[in-house]
Amino acid sequence: MTAPIVLVIQQYADFSYVAAIALFILSLKWLSSPATARRGVLSGEIGAALALVTTFFDPRLVQFRWIAVGLLVGLIIGIPLGLVKMTAVPQRTAMSHAFGALAAAVIGISEYYVHAPHITKFGMTEIAMEVIIGCLSFTGSLIAAGKLQEVLPQRPITYRGQNYVSLAIFSAAVILALILIINPGAPYLFPAMVGVSLFFGILLVTPIGGADMPTVISLLNSYVGLSAALLGFVLNSKVLVVAGALDGSSGFILSVIMCKAMNRSFTNVLFGAFGQVTAAAEQVKEERTVRSATAEEAAAILAAATSVVVVPGYGMAVAQAQHKVREMFDLLTTLGVDVKFAIHPVAGRMPGHMNVLLAEADVPYDKLVEMEDANSDLPQADVALVIGANDVTNPAAKTNQGSPIYGMPIIEADKAHTVMVIKRSMNPGFAGIDNPLYYLDKTLMLFGDAKAFVSDIVRDLSEAAKGAKKSATGGR
Ligand code: TAP
Repeated sequence: MTAPIVLVIQQYADFSYVAAIALFILSLKWLSSPATARRGVLSGEIGAALALVTTFFDPRLVQFRWIAVGLLVGLIIGIPLGLVKMTAVPQRTAMSHAFGALAAAVIGISEYYVHAPHITKFGMTEIAMEVIIGCLSFTGSLIAAGKLQEVLPQRPITYRGQNYVSLAIFSAAVILALILIINPGAPYLFPAMVGVSLFFGILLVTPIGGADMPTVISLLNSYVGLSAALLGFVLNSKVLVVAGALDGSSGFILSVIMCKAMNRSFTNVLFGAFGQVTAAAEQVKEERTVRSATAEEAAAILAAATSVVVVPGYGMAVAQAQHKVREMFDLLTTLGVDVKFAIHPVAGRMPGHMNVLLAEADVPYDKLVEMEDANSDLPQADVALVIGANDVTNPAAKTNQGSPIYGMPIIEADKAHTVMVIKRSMNPGFAGIDNPLYYLDKTLMLFGDAKAFVSDIVRDLSEAAKGAKKSATGGR
C-alpha cells in the first residue's frame, strides 16, 4: 500500500476508535437505569463491533488466517455460552472474564517473545504487570466459575497460614517481574513468572466461599479491565486503554456496591472464608410451627388488600415465575390494589437479577422500588408477598448478632400487616440459615413452586376480577 493510502486508513481507524470509545461510555451511562439498559447493551455491542472491524484495517495486519481461526473458535465457544439459563449467568460471566484475561495474558506473552531481549525497562514493566494480572485473573475466574457451577466445592478451602503462603507466592511473581525489568532477556524467568501468577490466581479464589463468588467475579472483572488497559499501553492502542479502564473501574464500583449491600468489607470478602460460618450456622435449627395457606386463600387476601409489596428473590428466577407475576400484577391493578416490587440489591445471584427478570416480563419500571423506599412503604402495606426470596428478608440480619448475615440491610417484609411467603419448603436460602420471618403470627407460608403457585393465584384472581367487572356493569 502507498504511504498516503495508509495515512487515510489510519485516520479513519482513529476516528472509528474514538466513536467506539464514545459508544462504550454511553453504554455504561445507559446501563445505569433499567429504562435505558437495552439501549446501553446495543451501544456497547455496536462499539465492540466497530472496534473489532476497524482493527482488521490496521495496516500492520498482514495475514488473516489465524484471525479467522480465532473468530471460528470464539463463535463455537461463545454461542453456547450466550444461551445458558439466566440462573447460570454468574458462572457464564466468570468464564467470559477467564477468556478475556487469557487473551490479554497471551498477547502480553507474545509481545515479550517478539521483542525480548530488546525491551525498555518501561515496556517490560507494562508487560510484566499486564501478564501477572491477566494470568491470575484467568485461573481465578476459572475457579470462581467452577465453584458457582458446583463442579468445585463451594465451601472455602482454608488452612493455617494460608494468607502468608498466598502473599509469598504473589511476592515471588513480583520479584521475578523486577528481575525481568532489570534484565528482560533472563532465560526461564518469564515462564516462571507466568506459572507463579497462574498458581496465585488459584490460591486467591479457593479460600473464598461460594456465597461471595459474585462479588469476587466483579472484582476479577476489574482486574481483567486493568490488564486490558495495560495491554493497551503495550500495544499503543488507545481504544484498549479506555475500554480496559472503563471495565476496570465499573467492575470495581460494582464490587463496592455489592459489598455495601451485604454489609461486608472487601477484606472480609477476600480473607473472611464466609461459607464456613454459614455451614456452622446451618447446624443449629429449631423445630417451630408455621401457618400455611392455599392459593385460593392467598388470592382472597390479595384481592381484599389496598396495597401489596411484592418481594422477589432467587426462587422467582429459578421457577421463571416473572411472567405469571406480571399477570398477577395486572389483575390486582384491575382490582384497584396498589402493587409495588421491592428490589434488594443482592436479591438473586447477580446484580440487577430481579430488575432484568421483571423487565423481561414488562413490569412497569416505576413499580420497582429500591430497598430504602420499600422499607418506608412496608409498615403501611397490607400485604408483603415474598416470592422465592429468603436471606434478603431475614430479620436475623438486624436482630441476631451471631448470625452470619448480621448487619446486611434487608427488605423489612416483617413490618407489613400480613406476610405471605411462596417457597417450596422450609429449606434455608443461600446463606444457609433459618428465617424467623416464617414463624411470625402474621406470616402465611404458601408452599409450592413459585410459578405454579402464582399461576393458581392468577386463576383465582381472574375469577375475582370477572366478578368485579360483572358487578360494575350491573351483571350485563
Ligand atoms: P435466597 O436467600 O437464596 O433464597 C431463595 C429461596 O428461593 C430459597 O429459600 C428457596 O426455598 C426458594 N426457591 C428456590 N427455588 C424455588 C422455586 N422453584 N419456587 C419457589 N421458591 C424457590 O435468595 P434471595 O433472598 O434472593 O437472596 C440472595 C442471596 O444470594 C443472599 O444471601 C445474597 O447475599 C446472596 N448473594 C447474592 C448476590 C447477588 S449479586 N445477587 C451476590 C452474592 C451473594 P425452597 O428451596 O424452600 O423453595
